[in-house]
Amino acid sequence: MRLAQSIKPMIPITKPYFDEHEERAAAEAIRSGWVVQGPRTMEFERMVAERVGARYALATSNCTTALHLALVALGIGADAEVLVPSYSFIATANSVMHAGATPVFVDIDARTYNMDPRLLEEKISPRARAIMPVHQIGLAADLDAIHEIARQHNLVVIEDAATIIGGAYKGKPIGAHSAAVCFSFHPRKAITTGEGGMVTTNDPDVARQVEMLRSHGANISDYARHGADKVIIEEYPALGYNYRLTDIQGAVGVAQMKKLDWILARRVEIGERYNRAFADLDFIETPYEPPYAKHTYQSYCLRIARNAPKTRDEIMTAMQAAGIATRRGVMAAHLEPFYVNRFGRVALPVTEDATRTTILLPIYAQMTETEIETVITTFRRIVLNAAHG
Ligand SMILES: Cc1ncc(COP(=O)(O)O)c(C=O)c1O
Repeated sequence: MRLAQSIKPMIPITKPYFDEHEERAAAEAIRSGWVVQGPRTMEFERMVAERVGARYALATSNCTTALHLALVALGIGADAEVLVPSYSFIATANSVMHAGATPVFVDIDARTYNMDPRLLEEKISPRARAIMPVHQIGLAADLDAIHEIARQHNLVVIEDAATIIGGAYKGKPIGAHSAAVCFSFHPRKAITTGEGGMVTTNDPDVARQVEMLRSHGANISDYARHGADKVIIEEYPALGYNYRLTDIQGAVGVAQMKKLDWILARRVEIGERYNRAFADLDFIETPYEPPYAKHTYQSYCLRIARNAPKTRDEIMTAMQAAGIATRRGVMAAHLEPFYVNRFGRVALPVTEDATRTTILLPIYAQMTETEIETVITTFRRIVLNAAHG
């Protein structure tokens, strides 16, 4: 009780949008008695496949396991190098390590914060097998340029699409541009199943491998076995994992998918509102939209220029004191002790500058008018007070 009283009300960085639909869906899954991956997850997969225009969608326990499975399914393991941005949540590079391969960090474009295709070629060694672009904080990476380099060097492309469900590249949904595309349904994402992930692909072999590997390498799912009218004894042709989603989560996923378009539209509305509200601040850089993609604002990111009167960290502290949660922009995996100890100190100047100078502001579909205004006026007061002395 005392603990609850000591927590200050804050405008959080994000909030899942749940209502009675998710409550009912989860309750129905529990009442049905079937709670491991089953019919509700299959429906969730069907909805995601249809929405992203992919032939197959395979649910997983989270996006990290989705990325791991995609790598294994595509035969990328020991001795292989995978080109990844460091400017991402650490799970991107970790998934490559889990597959037994080596992440090779590529710097980003300073405006989009996504892997810079112009810097890819110099990092491609004879061991390179794959490129793993990340669509960072809801903005698509330049897939055509990346695919062109992948074609020239015979590399596989696996997209880390953790943050971009419902987003598009050149008008075509993210989900079917590459050999495998991996989504996250963590609560920081537009829609959530608590934890959750999905691999989408058009390749039946990749789909088959992912399906088997996520469920201990079994050649038939529990649900199919239980639904059969004869006894089926499963076999285990591959060394698999338990990376399944539960059907309680699958049920929540179905309810969330029905809201996806509304949630995305609200996020764009709020993101654009912020853009207009900060457009006159010349030491603040609002999100950039390249010609090939619209932002889906999984996060709302501002860059605080070097000539700004306050540093990014000072602004974060003042916002926190005013009851508004912020986060540093995206981390840089190559600076973390694990990667420095393993691979030494790599220089990625654009990434390092971005991770030091960016800040994320609250954004979620159900933000009230008052909350949006409070974020805008508080942020402006903090940076402008400092500017004037
Ligand atoms: C770019 C990126 N990749 C991978 C992940 C990992 O996703 P999950 O938490 O579902 O494993 C995240 C999650 O935050 C992410 O932002």
